[in-house]
Amino acid sequence: MDHKIVYQIYPKSFMDSNHDGEGDLNGIISKLDYLKDLGVDVLWLTPVFISPQNDNGYDVADYYHVDPRFGTDEDLDTLINEARKREIDIMLDMVFNHSSTEHAWFQKALTGNKDYMNRYYFMKEPVNWESKFGGNAFEYVPDLDMYYLHLFDVTQADLNWENEKVFNEFVKICNYWLKKGVRGFRFDVINLISKPEVFKDDLTGDGRKEYTDGPKVTQYLRKLGEQSFAQYDDVMTVGELSSTSIDKASQYSKKGESGLSTIFNFHHLKVDYKDGYKWALKPFDFIELKTLYQTWQEGMVKEDASMSLFLSNHDQPRAVSRFTDESFEGATMLLNMIMSLKGVVYLYQGEEIGLPNAYFDNIDLYRDIESLNHHKLLLEHHDEATVLKILSERSRDNGRTPMPWNNQAHYGFSTTNPWIPFSLSKNLKTVKENLEDPASIFHYTKKLIALRKQDPILIHGDIDFVDINHSKLFVYKRTYLNQTYLCIHNFYNEDISYDFVYKDVVINNYNNIESNHLLPYQSLILEI
Ligand code: GLC
Repeated sequence: MDHKIVYQIYPKSFMDSNHDGEGDLNGIISKLDYLKDLGVDVLWLTPVFISPQNDNGYDVADYYHVDPRFGTDEDLDTLINEARKREIDIMLDMVFNHSSTEHAWFQKALTGNKDYMNRYYFMKEPVNWESKFGGNAFEYVPDLDMYYLHLFDVTQADLNWENEKVFNEFVKICNYWLKKGVRGFRFDVINLISKPEVFKDDLTGDGRKEYTDGPKVTQYLRKLGEQSFAQYDDVMTVGELSSTSIDKASQYSKKGESGLSTIFNFHHLKVDYKDGYKWALKPFDFIELKTLYQTWQEGMVKEDASMSLFLSNHDQPRAVSRFTDESFEGATMLLNMIMSLKGVVYLYQGEEIGLPNAYFDNIDLYRDIESLNHHKLLLEHHDEATVLKILSERSRDNGRTPMPWNNQAHYGFSTTNPWIPFSLSKNLKTVKENLEDPASIFHYTKKLIALRKQDPILIHGDIDFVDINHSKLFVYKRTYLNQTYLCIHNFYNEDISYDFVYKDVVINNYNNIESNHLLPYQSLILEI
């Protein structure tokens, strides 16, 4: 599996084929040759199911049908088949921690039907947990004189996995899509599914320690796998883990168990959170970033578990803006790092062209519910300019701007204004510009993907970290059989002295190499 490259598509912002300003499945189909040319093996689509879209599809109202805004069920069949013809698999996003409050089950629960209420968490006495999108995690329903739990938006009600009817439905949904030819699932916030038997106030935090990594996550996943995806040997699964630990994460993706193939953890993407708080800015802590990689890579290897390698997704600002100056060298340094660590590589749409953050300068340009909620909350303590500055660095909308395909109107994404504006960065380069320039980020990424997919050292090699306390360079070795690569990444826009010897250059994001120093953002994979 570590030889596969997964490419994440945010369908709403990928390609619009029906001129309504939102991307759709036919848009993706029209770009399959582009993706094949890039060299990716699996396409992970964020949810395309029927949804009121309060959280852009992570609020699912019907898990069996495509939302008309993205196309039809037949369009999804076509996408699966057309992708397959190009040896590309489709991975769907399963949101099983919660459903939309528009789901038929929740609507029946609201009528007071006990059978349906028991599929969620309705209770007389709420506890003090906070919603991850701000505010209280319990909503009062006057007609029932009860509260229900929503760890995310008020329209995302948490589902009760202890209930057999809920669990059996998840099995049915997975099997339905597997039969249709889907070959992967990404399970949304999957370590939140095992809630405590008795809900208790969290006296020192926001509640997460009460419901995260609950006692039955592994058991549920194993059971779900046994009855669905684990019956296939070519299905890849990845679990998104919220605020987890290595101990827990490795249990979920241990090889040989029928749990998940791999996991997403996010510790490395919090190194610029001041005191661990997302909405307070600080420059990224480079030593912490490296130490986290070392701890996680070594910890997962020890347990024979797999981790995913990624720096961007639809919930994160763009890594190229977050960690570098958005230059070719900065972007390719990050790509070299991701592709030379141990695990499964994920690219997020736009990463192959170095697409930068949105840089929205006005709250009216934002669409994301978490950003809009926090805009209000942050204004209680800061002035508007400060809040806009924080959002411009932290908002999830940074990763959700549409793909700029060419220099025609609306960057060739649509023939009309898109649902969210394009990135306002002066460093934005279109796909077409990238394709036409042999020295572009796209062509570099393509070369790197080709290397990663067939190089046994990068795929299977052991990893050893070197000079972990170096203040500017990230250095490690990969070794397989008798061959060793030395990987050196300069994370700064400065020349850095460093002595090294090598036999051969595997990849270099500059044309030149000098064995006593690294150029700004230079990144090398060397045979030694
Ligand atoms: C995950 C998704 C995110 C969503 C949340 C709630 O973190 O990636 O986009 O808002 O779960 O479903």
